[in-house]
Amino acid sequence: PKERMDSRYRAIERLIREAGKKMVKARPSDAMIHQKEGLANFCTDYDMEIQRFLIKGFSEILPGAAFFGEEDTEGNAGAQADGEFTFYIDPIDGTTNFMFDYHHSCISVGLAHKDQMVAGFVYHPYINDMYIAIRGKGSYLNGKRIQLADKSVTEGIVEFGCARYNEAGIDWLFRVVKDMFQNSLSIRCGGSAALGLCRAASGSNTVYLELKLQPYDYAAASVILEEAGGVITQIDGSPITLHEGCSIIGGTPKAWKESKEAFERLRDSSAEGT
Ligand code: IPD
Repeated sequence: PKERMDSRYRAIERLIREAGKKMVKARPSDAMIHQKEGLANFCTDYDMEIQRFLIKGFSEILPGAAFFGEEDTEGNAGAQADGEFTFYIDPIDGTTNFMFDYHHSCISVGLAHKDQMVAGFVYHPYINDMYIAIRGKGSYLNGKRIQLADKSVTEGIVEFGCARYNEAGIDWLFRVVKDMFQNSLSIRCGGSAALGLCRAASGSNTVYLELKLQPYDYAAASVILEEAGGVITQIDGSPITLHEGCSIIGGTPKAWKESKEAFERLRDSSAEGT
């Protein structure tokens, strides 16, 4: 029933806010930072602790749900195609920012029902910004409805993401970024894909683009962006995937189209495999 789901969504939000307090208080020392596969790819003890905390809490709120989280912790089973509910969790999106006290990281939690994203929660605990969207009910930032204006690239800020471990396609990405730099008001590389997409939803960015992201990076923000009137797809325009990672463009309908065209126009052989 609807009321039961609404109270579950409220419980999910409360738990994320609690996890946010842990993040703000945390002071990661060098010994708590671990290298993952690939260049400059890190996980801290806090990423793991927060993911464990969320999985435990969400299992009580929605018994039987599956979990697809960024970190390798107990309860993290990966996406289950036939599962009733699946949580997509990035306990700290923007781990490198977190390690260096940038205060631009978030907790990202998406909820899928039978392979359809139904809800997204993205919480920036340093400035207490909570983005929430329930499919069909609009997007909210701190309780206020957000609806983006359909601006084109020339009318605002473009944000892109680039992780050192995503080496394929770097030349291609930076050609697109250079093109955007010359055609927009400014560019950003904030270090959190979920926040970059949410900022497109709330109108701060016209578009966010990145090659090779994972579903837990964009699952939650995809609902928030779409419910705010935005578009998110893979860079060739096909739907984003939930069982494996993909390259994404998410933004206003106009900026999304312009970005997709820039990727097509500036593609060359170095882009193979992306
Ligand atoms: C990363 C951030 C970053 C993006 C990377 C992601 P993490 O997530 O979202 O902005 O460029 O591709 O992996 O590792 O900090 O959770």
